[in-house]
Amino acid sequence: NLVQQLPKAIIIGVRKGGTRALLEMLNLHPAVVKASQEIHFFDNDENYAKGIEWYRKKMPFSYPHQITIEKSPAYFITEEVPERIYKMNSSIKLLIIVREPTTRAISDYTQVLEGKERKNKTYYKFEKLAIDPNTCEVNTKYKAVRTSIYTKHLERWLKYFPIEQFHIVDGDRLITEPLPELQLVEKFLNLPPRISQYNLYFNATRGFYCLRFNIVFNKCLAGSKGRIHPEVDTSVITKLRKFFHPFNQKFYQITGRTFKWP
Ligand code: A3P
Repeated sequence: NLVQQLPKAIIIGVRKGGTRALLEMLNLHPAVVKASQEIHFFDNDENYAKGIEWYRKKMPFSYPHQITIEKSPAYFITEEVPERIYKMNSSIKLLIIVREPTTRAISDYTQVLEGKERKNKTYYKFEKLAIDPNTCEVNTKYKAVRTSIYTKHLERWLKYFPIEQFHIVDGDRLITEPLPELQLVEKFLNLPPRISQYNLYFNATRGFYCLRFNIVFNKCLAGSKGRIHPEVDTSVITKLRKFFHPFNQKFYQITGRTFKWP
């Protein structure tokens, strides 16, 4: 009686927040089944046009008592997505994993930079992209900056879903102390607490927590997770932190979750 079920919860973002780690760690729970690939159903017009049955068939097989979770971080920042998800299931649970916005922006840049380097292409320095050379102000047209203005995106989602349907995960804490963050998600998803310290062990070589499913099966995330960030001019970091500050305050206010971001 295995079935392909539509997701009951979606990790909608944020890109570079730790979305892969969160999905893989939730999958440690016996009642959670993950869609391994990013499906990009709601943010990609071509995929969306294929219809909900196409989406369902992309889901893994699971038992009826289990819940399916997918993650596509582009959902968080794509205009059309909230309405489309609402039309599928207006009571779906939405997970957002965030990191300190400037760190997230640099992580985002690092991923793009690596892609360019792989193709032997040169790329701008982060400082050049993040700061408008004419005004010397933060360049709000730069995608890595815009994505980190979490409140702006969340406000679009709130036109469709009440705040109670969202759970905010602290991506910085998921790196250093994953278990309590996962326990909060279990609670939010109304799942019995099943993920334990046994399932998570710190791998000093990797510099991150890795996953232990059972006595024979464990795994760490791929090397593309946990890249070394380039050094960024401290004055640029300060400028960005100052820029994000009011947006962060608003985000805390809306979500009821406060972070120690500068
Ligand atoms: P960095 O590469 O900047 O360190 P996403 O999956 O959304 O792309 O997020 C990637 C980020 O997940 C990485 O960013 C890394 O810091 C973070 N992460 C959190 N927990 C991790 C873990 N256990 N193993 C590897 N990366 C982890």
